[in-house]
Amino acid sequence: MTPFVLWFTGLSGSGKSTLAREIAKYLSGKGYEVETLDGDAVRDIFPGTGFTEKERNEHIKRIGFIASLLEKHGVIVLASFISPYKASREFARKRCSTFIEVYVSASVGECEKRDAKGLYKKARCGEIDRFTGISDPYEAPERPELVVDTGVESVEESVRKVIEYIQRYL
Ligand code: ADX
Repeated sequence: MTPFVLWFTGLSGSGKSTLAREIAKYLSGKGYEVETLDGDAVRDIFPGTGFTEKERNEHIKRIGFIASLLEKHGVIVLASFISPYKASREFARKRCSTFIEVYVSASVGECEKRDAKGLYKKARCGEIDRFTGISDPYEAPERPELVVDTGVESVEESVRKVIEYIQRYL
């Protein structure tokens, strides 16, 4: 097995964490050491991290560094962060040996329709500023290893696509 970092990037509510959770279950079931790193969970522990470009980039670079350390020790890492800026995603890619960028490409319209956390509504009425996709940018990956469109595919289909891709490393 070659350890790897599966990096899910996409808008809030696009399904990154759901996919990571399902894939983590699959890999743990097969006996692999897996660690998941998730934007909301990390931000709960470090609530001082804001949403300016500088703060987001620093946050993502920190996570990229931690992911690379885990990977070096044989752990499969599943990271789900909006990670809207190419620069810090590229930083993470360079630190890791096997970096698999998964672009979870659900559109703003689709994510806003779901609005599981009610954040899009708040962003629209100005209660939250710098909200990705509404009042803050998202730089879509240009050459991701994988694209899953959860607006079109079912969770099962997207999970299957990712699992098929990672077989070469297992
Ligand atoms: S990132 O842009 O720095 O990569 P990260 O994935 O850690 O973001 O956290 C995103 C989560 O923070 C969202 O899913 C949402 O729950 C919450 N959040 C709160 N404010 C914002 C905002 N202004 N923009 C995006 N997400 C926000």
